[in-house]
Amino acid sequence: MGFQIAIDGPSASGKSSIAREVAKSFNFVHINSGLMYRAIAYKAIKEQVNLLCEEKLVELIEHTTLELTPDQRVIMDQNDVSEHLKTVSIEASTVSSFPLVRERLVHLQQEMAKSLDCVMDGRDIGTVVLPQADVKIFITADVEDRAHRRTNELKKMGIDADYENILDEMIQRDNQDINRPVGPLKQAEDALLIDTTGNTFEMSAKIVIDLIKERLGR
Ligand code: C5P
Repeated sequence: MGFQIAIDGPSASGKSSIAREVAKSFNFVHINSGLMYRAIAYKAIKEQVNLLCEEKLVELIEHTTLELTPDQRVIMDQNDVSEHLKTVSIEASTVSSFPLVRERLVHLQQEMAKSLDCVMDGRDIGTVVLPQADVKIFITADVEDRAHRRTNELKKMGIDADYENILDEMIQRDNQDINRPVGPLKQAEDALLIDTTGNTFEMSAKIVIDLIKERLGR
């Protein structure tokens, strides 16, 4: 068994960027589980599969190969789809609400993490995917702060982004993620809560890295 770090939190809380930094610092593998839900949603849209039909989504997953590369590219059915996933947000949340979709992807995530030193980020990593993780962290920030971050992030990528729309969608996505009966966004009882509201990325990353150093006894 490797050393496992679970990082959960709402969208744009900074969890994926922090997980990436943690992976770099400790030479761990980073598994961004959100990308997997996004990839499935992207394929469903492209193949005109009804996003509300659990059975069809499961069938689609069964005919899909998914791979995450060390540099965070997503290879689906032998194609690099990374560039298409940033804007498939609410759709990813919608497909992720189905128990059978989650069952399949959780299984894949557990297989990927097996016997690796890894840091995995998502919504249910500390509670469902890696309940035995050595370190569990729950990262949060005010929704307005997160919407500003996401707006700036998209603008930097040259994607047209409107703060009010992003805020509305984020509130809707938080609600969907928190209220689904299976694998909801939830802080594990033994997770440490870190609120990054008002922090720079560097400040937040340092808090998490110092904490892991302490746990690793370094
Ligand atoms: O983390 P990210 O925002 O990329 O995730 C996209 C969507 O995938 C989330 O809104 C959430 O609904 C879903 N997700 C999930 N469980 C995870 C990771 C992501 O349900 N472990």
